[in-house]
Order: sequence, then structure tokens, then C-alpha cells
Amino acid sequence: MNHPIFLPFYLGFLAWLCLFSVKAEDPYKFFTMEVTYGQINPLGVPQRGILINGRFPGPTIDCVTNDNVIVNVINKLDEPFLITCYTFVFLFFFVSWDQDSNGIKQRKTSWQDGVLGTNCPIPPNSNWTYQMQMKDQIGSFSYFPSTLMHRAAGGYGGINIYARAVIFVPYLKPVEQFTLLVSDWWKSDHKVLQQTLDSGKPLPMADALLINGHPSLKSFTVLGGQLYMFRVSNVALTTSINFRIQGHTMTLVETEGSHTLQETYESLDLHVGQSASFLVRMSASPKDYFIVASTRFTKPILTATSILHYDGSNTKASLPLPTAPTYHIHWSMKQARTIRWNLTANAARPNPQGSYHYGTIPVTRTIVLANSEENINGKLRYAVNQVSYVNPETPLKIADFYNISGVFKLNSTKDTPHSIPATLGTSVLGFTLHDYVEIIFQNNENTTQSWHLDGSDFWPVGFGSGQWDTTKRRRFYNLNDATTRHTVQVYPKSWSAILVSLDNKGMWNLRSAIWPRQYLGQQLYIKVWNDEQSYRTEYGIPDNALRCGQAPLK
Ligand SMILES: *[C@@H]1O[C@H](CO)[C@@H](O)[C@H](O)[C@H]1NC(C)=O
Ligand SMILES: *[C@@H]1O[C@H](CO)[C@@H](O)[C@H](O)[C@H]1NC(C)=O
Ligand SMILES: *[C@@H]1O[C@H](CO)[C@@H](O)[C@H](O)[C@H]1NC(C)=O
Ligand SMILES: *[C@@H]1O[C@H](CO)[C@@H](O)[C@H](O)[C@H]1NC(C)=O
Ligand SMILES: *[C@@H]1O[C@H](CO)[C@@H](O)[C@H](O)[C@H]1NC(C)=O
Repeated sequence: MNHPIFLPFYLGFLAWLCLFSVKAEDPYKFFTMEVTYGQINPLGVPQRGILINGRFPGPTIDCVTNDNVIVNVINKLDEPFLITCYTFVFLFFFVSWDQDSNGIKQRKTSWQDGVLGTNCPIPPNSNWTYQMQMKDQIGSFSYFPSTLMHRAAGGYGGINIYARAVIFVPYLKPVEQFTLLVSDWWKSDHKVLQQTLDSGKPLPMADALLINGHPSLKSFTVLGGQLYMFRVSNVALTTSINFRIQGHTMTLVETEGSHTLQETYESLDLHVGQSASFLVRMSASPKDYFIVASTRFTKPILTATSILHYDGSNTKASLPLPTAPTYHIHWSMKQARTIRWNLTANAARPNPQGSYHYGTIPVTRTIVLANSEENINGKLRYAVNQVSYVNPETPLKIADFYNISGVFKLNSTKDTPHSIPATLGTSVLGFTLHDYVEIIFQNNENTTQSWHLDGSDFWPVGFGSGQWDTTKRRRFYNLNDATTRHTVQVYPKSWSAILVSLDNKGMWNLRSAIWPRQYLGQQLYIKVWNDEQSYRTEYGIPDNALRCGQAPLK
């Protein structure tokens, strides 16, 4: 999880006072998530799914800014042992980040990030409790399994973080909110898909696209004339989507915790891992309409539909479906540039978002990360600057905490692409706390990429085609009103640039959100550090931390 505040029962009373005297007031919300296999049939044929509390998709977590959220995850999956203890894992991470509209960066801890570089996996028939605080956040997010190919079987759900009652929300209040999770889906079992990747072959094209677990026919009932909110997340493993509603326009109000300029769209591209909240006024004539999600930049195009049902109407939705934008990368790139911060609007805190002048801060380091498809030892792998990441048995975070040598070497990956043969490795880039970093994602491949950073939000300041060079800063960067996000797309044969303020000490995963790519090595970790030993900047290992690899027992 990105930035939960662990409740440190083990801290001294003084530290407790410093850190938590204010937060002790914030409400606690308790959730249990029982993770089981169960039969589902999204495509009309029974197959094995991963259910959360018996449901696919999993339940939506509804909470309010600053809530302390305690989630007890019970792993009842019973997987056969394949290679390592990682086979048995089931962890979650929350695709979320903190809104720091007032420039005060929030502290978070990577101890609860729920990825294999920071946490030991939860063994079958046991449980582990995440403890975190939704500190200074609002918006639509999602959760999903971060281990193996579990995501391909479900296990995902929505997270909605509502503003506190005292905080002004910069848009009209909808009468109701709908959470829509769009995913790609395979008829094959997730273990078969995993074996395909393990054997060095690419994942086949998905068989279908789903909205909330259904390719069609799911219905949302609305009252004519009223205003509704659609919280849409692309929880797919592989594909960008386009989202649209027949006969209606959509007003974008929020993306991944930023309040946007309220632009109206006929349709919007959402890339793997991204979320957006739209307001839609039900001002069309009362009948049924199609809600459509379709894949972008794929052949063939997969389409999922749901029904927008005006209460009391008996008229079925009529074909044709509203058309998707054509293939054009250029169109999508242009649209991406229209998603901008509303500088005067606040987010989770009362301060306007624009009071943080991210474009004026001097960059302390520029790194260029190029993704590539590689053949290593006869198998398909994906690499970043020619290193294809492999998970060590001992999570990086634990190795670092206990000074266990030989698990990783800092800076073994280069800051810029080099033409050297690709190798397997455990890449960790070292940064100093408060570094202000420019990261260029250079995509020389012909597929769309999606990059996610845990632990810090960032500003996607530029998108462009071809090779990035320093002249692009002047020509293409938005240093004024880019939104903050946690996931950025990179178009085929193009680059995307982000600025990120590394104010969050810890070990953070920077990965391809495209799941087979991260599974086969398109990821790395960044260690954000300084030598100050203080619970002010980083907590010690949580009392309930699971142990694995070379981690000493308590
Ligand atoms: C497992 O669940 C039980 C109660 O259901 C709880 O008391 C215990 O703390 C949990 N274990 C962990 C490691 O979170
Ligand atoms: C920006 O936010 C303000 C509220 O602070 C709101 O009144 C205004 O309409 C918003 N502007 C746009 C273009 O969304
Ligand atoms: C790890 O090494 C650092 C620096 O030498 C030291 O301050 C710290 O106490 C060590 N941690 C453990 C758990 O031994
Ligand atoms: C890693 O690289 C950063 C930036 O160049 C540097 O500050 C840091 O000291 C390096 N760490 C090691 C262990 O080489
Ligand atoms: C993308 O590149 C691969 C090889 O790198 C090639 O086989 C494939 O045809 C290309 N696809 C498109 C759509 O250009």
C-alpha cells in the first residue's frame, strides 16, 4: 500500500505523541477480506476466480480522508507449491497516493506497501493485517493482488475516499455514485497464464473485456434529470481502454486524487492502472443507453457494455454503440494534455492545489528509463535499461533494514539506457530524501506502456513522440497545471516525462502496470534515504511483519 501510516504499538510514548497525537482522533474502519477460490463464469463458462468475501469483483472499500483503515487479509487460496514460497502469496497493494495540495508531503511507509520487494507474502491459511491511514487523500482508487498472475483471476475491487464533511468539494453533489472496474479477461486459468509466461512465451490476447465482472448486461438505474458520478478504474492486466456513455457527455472532475479542470468529454482514454471520476447529467430522453469500454490500440478491439437504465423507461438501448476514437496515438496524446489541475480547487485539504508550484523546483537528478523486450536464456523477458528484475527471496526492504548483504546492490542499473546485453538482476536505484527527480520513460517499442510508482505521487509533465532529449523540456513540458497521478502512460515509440518529489523515505516499487511485463521483469525499486535515524522519517519494522527468506525471526 502506498502510504499507509502504520500504527506503531512498538514505538516509545514520546514518538507516539509526536506522530499520532493529532491522528488519534481520526476514525477507525475495520475490514476483513477473506480471499478464496470460487467458481465464476463471466464469459458464460465456469472457471476459477479469486473472490474477496465471496465476491467477484471484490467489495468496494468506502472511507473518508484520514480514516485509519485496518484490513485483515485472510489467504484461503490453496496453491500447489511451484518454485518458491512466493507461489503461495497473496498481497494487496492499494493503487493510490496521497494528495498533497498544500505542498506538505505526507509521510507513508513502505512496510505496508504489499509488494514482494517490501513484504513477505501471506502464506495460505493464514492472515495478515494491513494498517494504514488514508492521509490527506480523496478520490477513486482500486486494489488488486500484486502476486504472480492472481490478478488475472480477480481479487480486485474499488476504493473510494470521500472528502471530510468540513472540506469543500469543487463540484456539484451527485445523487449517487457508481464504481466501474474495467478489466481484460482470459478463459484460461490464471495458473495456465502464469505457466505460459514462465515458459518464456508472451501472454495471449485477452478473450474479453469486462465491466464489474460482466462483458454486457450489467445495469445502472438512474433518475432522469439527476446528476450521477461514475468512478471508473482500468484494472486490466494489459490494455488501455476508452470509456464512453451513449447519448451523454461526461465531465471529468477527478483523476487519481487530483481535482481536474472540469472538461467535458465524449469519451476518455484510461490506461492500465489509472482511475477517473466523471459527473454525468441524465438529460437525455428516458430510455436505456449503452455504457461502453473498449480496448485501445489493439487488434481486434474488445468491447464491454453495461446498460444505463432510466428509471421507469421500457425502451431498450439501441445499436450502434457510440463509436470509439480511431487508433490515433496522436489523438490520445492530445487528449491526455487536456487533463489538467484545477489550480484554485482544493483536494483533501482546504488549500488550493495550485499553491504547490511544482514547475519552479530545481531538478536534482534526471533519469531515463527505457523498456525493452528481451530474450534471456531463451526466454521472453522485459527489461528496464537492460536489467530484467527478479524478486529476491528476502524482500529488499527487510534486507536493507537488517543489513543483509548480497540481496541487492544499489545503483546496479544505469541512470540512462546503454546498449549492453540484457541481464537478470535486482535493480535498486538509490536516492536521497527530498531529491526532486525528472524521470523520462522512453518507449522504443510499438506497444503502449503504463508505469506506476508506489509511495509518491508525480506530475506527468510531458508526452511526446520519438526520442526524448533536453530540448523537449522547453517545447513540451507543462510546468503549470499538470495533475498529480500515480500511473502514467507512454505511447508507442514515444516518451513521457514525470517530475517527482521524493519526500517519502523507504523502498518503493517503480513498475510496469502492464502485468505480464512487470511479472517478467519490467520493474525496479527506488530507495529513498538519508542517514537521519528517526521515526519522524521512517518507522522500524512493524510488530506483525511476516518473515521469509533470510529475515531473522523475532
Ligand atoms: C489474524 O486474524 C486474527 C483475528 O481474526 C487477528 O487477531 C490477528 O492479529 C491476525 N494476524 C495478523 C498477523 O494480522
Ligand atoms: C475550479 O475549481 C473551482 C472551485 O475552487 C470551481 O469553482 C471552478 O468551476 C473550477 N474550474 C473548472 C474549469 O473546473
Ligand atoms: C544496519 O546498519 C546501520 C548502519 O551501519 C546501523 O545503523 C543499523 O543499526 C543496522 N541495523 C540493524 C538492524 O542491525
Ligand atoms: C547511487 O546513486 C546516487 C546518485 O548518483 C548516489 O547519490 C548514491 O550515493 C549512489 N549509491 C551508491 C551506493 O553508489
Ligand atoms: C511491433 O514490433 C514487433 C517486433 O518488435 C513486430 O513483430 C510487430 O509487427 C510490430 N507491431 C506493429 C503493430 O507494428
